[in-house]
Amino acid sequence: MIILSIDTSCDETSVAVTKGRQVLSHVEYSQVATHAQWGGVVPSLAKRAHEERIDWVIEKTFQRIRTNTQISINNIEAVAVTTGPGLAIALEVGIRKAKEIASQQHIPVIPVNHMAGHIYSCFVQNKSENPMRPFSFPYLALLVSGGHTELVFMKDHHQFEVIGRTRDDAVGESLDKAARMLGFGYPGGPVIERMAEKCGNRDQYRFPRPMIGSDNLDFSYAGLKTSFLYFTKEMGEQERLQNIETLASSYQEAAFGVLVRKVEKAMKETQVSNILVGGGVAVNRRLRKLLRHTVKQQKGTVLFPPYRYLNFDNAAMISVAAVFQDSKSYVTDADMDNVDRQPRLTLG
Ligand code: KG4
Ligand code: ZN
Repeated sequence: MIILSIDTSCDETSVAVTKGRQVLSHVEYSQVATHAQWGGVVPSLAKRAHEERIDWVIEKTFQRIRTNTQISINNIEAVAVTTGPGLAIALEVGIRKAKEIASQQHIPVIPVNHMAGHIYSCFVQNKSENPMRPFSFPYLALLVSGGHTELVFMKDHHQFEVIGRTRDDAVGESLDKAARMLGFGYPGGPVIERMAEKCGNRDQYRFPRPMIGSDNLDFSYAGLKTSFLYFTKEMGEQERLQNIETLASSYQEAAFGVLVRKVEKAMKETQVSNILVGGGVAVNRRLRKLLRHTVKQQKGTVLFPPYRYLNFDNAAMISVAAVFQDSKSYVTDADMDNVDRQPRLTLG
């Protein structure tokens, strides 16, 4: 099936055209520059930027296909769109556009959960159908982004059970906040990663790892953030600047240490050995290395999104999640009014 997909859940206006798991074309228009000066995503600015850009992004996506195939909007068989979770007024822009196109073309809309998209991002293929990656259920999925930190048990296609989640901040958000305390802008994750690499990922300060030994699979990042705040304040500016790399690195080690330990615990408890990782933080090289090591020790396998853009918010993953969704979820013309934003949508 040839699908046009749209994701406007946060600060990327993203559109893709896919055939099965293959991405024929994808365009992401990032609003990072718009939000950077505010230290985070501002919903009203996000909405406006989506509205201003969405037609252009769709046009660009088709332009890119035209260079090697004859596919146009008339070949599209369904429009997949993220209905949640995300920023309500941002989601709305993509949903409205999806309905408009679907009505014009007399094709169904497929509503997709953004977090399911992050899980399926591990199975997205390029035009040459690489990587192959056959499905091998069950999976444990670790979702790590600016808004989510979740462990999900996935029995089969679209059968999700959230078995662990953060009780306060998400891990990406936590990295963003630590970066801000060190004087860096949004997003903080990439800066922390670079700083940490510069000092060989040293864990000099051994910051607390909240809930690492708890008897559940939940996470908590608020305590780590607070202890970092006091520690860096006490240091004073001069000393903080001198030790900025080891501070960033120690923070990252604490944040990731908990993720890795909980994955290990989940593997032991569920006896599931195939791990999927998705979300913006999954791009981090240190996290990938730590997870590969631990999963290997547990005799398991771990998959990350195969191409860089797939770690971040993108529409290609929304298409691929849609492909494996039951056709009962397709919404046709008569019921289009039922497709609505679900800002707090959860998995399972
Ligand atoms: O999935 P995503 O693009 O957006 C959502 O939150 O849905 O994730 C954004 C998060 C931000 O918190 C950002 O700091 C983090 O991903 N991030 C990283 C890296 N690049 C982005 N975290 C760690 N290392 C990175 N290289
Ligand atoms: Zn996301």
